[in-house]
Amino acid sequence: KDAVAPAACPHAPSRTQGLDTIPGPTNWPLVGSLIELLCKGGLTRQHEALIDYHKKFGKIFRMKLGSFESVHIGAPCLLEALNRKEGSYPQRLEIKPWKAYRDLRDEAYGLLILEGKDWQRVRSAFQQKLMKPTEVIKLDRKVNQVMVDFVDRIGRINKNGRIEDLYFELNKWSFEICLVLYDKRFGLLQEKVNEEAMHFITAVKTVMMSTFGMMIVTPVELHKTFNTKTWRDHTAAWDSIFSIAKVYIDKKLKKNAVRAPDDLIGDILHQSSLSKKELYAAITELQVGGVETTANSMLWLIFNLSRNPDAQKKLLQEIREVVPSGQSPSGEHIKSMPYLKACLKESMRLSPSVPFTSRTLDKDTVLGDYAIPKGTVLMINSHALGSSEEYFDDSKQFKPERWLRENSNINPFAHVPFGIGKRMCIGRRLAELQLQLAMCWLVRDYEIVATDNEPLDVIHSGLLVPSKELPVAFIRR
Ligand code: HEM
Repeated sequence: KDAVAPAACPHAPSRTQGLDTIPGPTNWPLVGSLIELLCKGGLTRQHEALIDYHKKFGKIFRMKLGSFESVHIGAPCLLEALNRKEGSYPQRLEIKPWKAYRDLRDEAYGLLILEGKDWQRVRSAFQQKLMKPTEVIKLDRKVNQVMVDFVDRIGRINKNGRIEDLYFELNKWSFEICLVLYDKRFGLLQEKVNEEAMHFITAVKTVMMSTFGMMIVTPVELHKTFNTKTWRDHTAAWDSIFSIAKVYIDKKLKKNAVRAPDDLIGDILHQSSLSKKELYAAITELQVGGVETTANSMLWLIFNLSRNPDAQKKLLQEIREVVPSGQSPSGEHIKSMPYLKACLKESMRLSPSVPFTSRTLDKDTVLGDYAIPKGTVLMINSHALGSSEEYFDDSKQFKPERWLRENSNINPFAHVPFGIGKRMCIGRRLAELQLQLAMCWLVRDYEIVATDNEPLDVIHSGLLVPSKELPVAFIRR
């Protein structure tokens, strides 16, 4: 038995308890748990600290970092309750620095930062095309065009099986799949790369990582007033992101040829009544939200397959059975590849890219034993959930089979790498298609081998990343 039946959600007792009674780590005046967290390795180790805190305090705990207070949930029953009670416009934690940039430059907000009815309007413009499996499957041809070049590049740059800076190569691959958005190839997988697109990748890293942490824990107004280096870097990075994305979107808008069935953005433009300014922001944020997350998930898949040769063998067997040799794998093939899907799920459980997401409650909400007031920030600890022995037996092991048991009783709310409910990742289906097709191509052509078997250190740097180059090699089959 691999998954443990979800513990019954505690029925809300006749009298619920208040926020103050939720257990949690030290809460010292001014600093809260900041010093304790620093002693546990600081923000780059926060994913480990969160697992420890759930072990210590249970399904729900409360933590204050400086003046920022949040309630952490790490149990399927609580996520299910939250999902049931969520209103029409769920909100994540506000990303003030990103909004400050848009306000400064008079740009619109995209899905990552929009709220309320405006969020719903933009979301529904993209929802049908991006979240409907029958629509997304049509994009397989474009994903494959990029895969042909990626596999070719792996062949060219591979030195005795080793790929230098594999993560960066995967970022370029993932960026190139923006072909789906713009009908344009960027040439990032060629010898001589497009400088502009490279610039975009580094600018995204700046807004998501190097300036993000600092700008979240300190008031944006302060950075703006003193024009700090962090603010200047942040603004310059967004300037690059917007100017590059606008060029591509404008080119796309100018093309008014008959639309192909896989013209995703063409259809959205045609069917929605979004303004040009809204489109710029929405498409830019799809790109910001999609490029590194997908590259990161691919990196972890490669790692997990390298450490689990038996699973890789089974996967190869499935690929050979379903995809005729000499043919490109397609969205249709994937429909009959359960082991492939299980490998992706298992990799995202064991090594998720995004360890948590958040919600800001828009009304008083009872979760389990507690009445939590409107305005509270909830952290949904998906990484802690996936690594819990309570919900996954042998949780440290990579076992795709656990997803395939006939009587598998894994609670769907125990595995939420793309978030939950109405506000879950809108790129989920596209990312899954990309990752599944990429796995077919790579595993069919290469044996992915581990070059050492030491435990791999993982750090939180916006996403969960390995602290060193992955010890893997690609051996041509
Ligand atoms: C939101 C993960 C790929 C665009 C999110 C959220 C997570 C996530 C955890 C927050 C959901 C919530 O709060 O419930 C991932 C992972 C990916 C991935 C792990 C790759 C494996 C993509 C792709 C795109 C994308 C390919 C674009 C095509 C977005 C956007 C949002 C979002 C726009 C905000 C949605 C909204 O608030 O309405 N993603 N994502 N993501 N993601 Fe992804």
